[in-house]
Amino acid sequence: MNVKSVFTEHFGYGPALMAKSPGRINLIGEHTDYNLGFVLPAAIDLCAFVAVAKRDDSIIRLFAKDLDEKYEIDLHALVPVENHWSAYILGVVDQLLKSGKSLTGFDLVLTCDVPIGAGMSSSAAVESATAFALNELFGLNLERLDMVRLAQKAENEFVGVKCGIMDMFASVMGKDAQAIQLDCRDLSYQYFPLNLEDYKIVLFDTGVKHSLAGGEYNLRRQQCEQGVAALQQRFPTVQSLRDVELSMLDDEFKTSVTDIVFKRCQYVIEENIRLEQGCALLLQNDIKGFGDKMYGSHKGLSELYEVSCKELDFLVSLAKEEESIAGARMMGGGFGGCTINLVKADAVQDLYDRFSQAYQSTMGKELKMYVTVPSTGSALVDIV
Ligand code: GLA
Repeated sequence: MNVKSVFTEHFGYGPALMAKSPGRINLIGEHTDYNLGFVLPAAIDLCAFVAVAKRDDSIIRLFAKDLDEKYEIDLHALVPVENHWSAYILGVVDQLLKSGKSLTGFDLVLTCDVPIGAGMSSSAAVESATAFALNELFGLNLERLDMVRLAQKAENEFVGVKCGIMDMFASVMGKDAQAIQLDCRDLSYQYFPLNLEDYKIVLFDTGVKHSLAGGEYNLRRQQCEQGVAALQQRFPTVQSLRDVELSMLDDEFKTSVTDIVFKRCQYVIEENIRLEQGCALLLQNDIKGFGDKMYGSHKGLSELYEVSCKELDFLVSLAKEEESIAGARMMGGGFGGCTINLVKADAVQDLYDRFSQAYQSTMGKELKMYVTVPSTGSALVDIV
């Protein structure tokens, strides 16, 4: 059942318009966005869909089809409910109001193909689809980049996760067959053709649900800020870890911060270097070389940044044994979700069969697989 017929069935009349926004993958550059470094994400072919129509009053009525849950609130009395799906939609409304846009109430139906808590950023997909739909519904004249910033602020301020800008950027700006090489300091970016030859982008889903709101994510961010504050004592021009060279993490720095803060800083700086080197390798069609950078990224995320978990580590250790996998690593915020793997097309099914058996017998859980392709970002959906 598509989002239009769900809307019609639920509200008893048809929607004015529909929009979709995809989830994202990230090839390399993890936990670098809020440190104003580089990322290499792409939008994928799984999306959040919203159907909307204006109301004459100030009531917002929401229906999440996949959860079969509804929620109603007055536009002028928005308050977030913790860990509730409505916050991703209402956070966008809150930001629109804060930026002086005039809105009325509306009815909205949400459906989402992006698996929740799997590290593919279903939250940014929902926020971006909402921003895209409301922009059109109320004629707000927002540019795509405005929507990206707005969706990030919605998540930071209303949902309470101090996430970076990568997920919304990929969701709104994605293009078919391209990754986006994004500099999170000034938001300059270039589309990066992904010529992966006969490799597929395969996600293995641990089934372990992560919750960024759980505090560990925000804690990582604070630890990085502590590192920056210590470095600023000696290097006043340093604004973020992006401005820091590895050589600056010397003995003097080591004595000025905790071991944990030191490790976090080391990881972020090394990850930015890996991304730059990895992009150069991809441009030379050296997919195995790029894959090695992915393994390096995972090691850093697991040992220095400490955002992996035993299930993710297990799946990456399986991947390392396979000739047909160029590289693998955990993806997204961590503590669960998926690994991203570059896998030879003709080996995908056999690998899945063997990995899922091993995963079941070692971790006692079912392994899911998604084969993704870089896809286009936010768009209106034909109403027909
Ligand atoms: C989550 C956040 C992003 C980014 C990643 C880690 O997906 O929403 O901003 O920080 O984690 O790279």
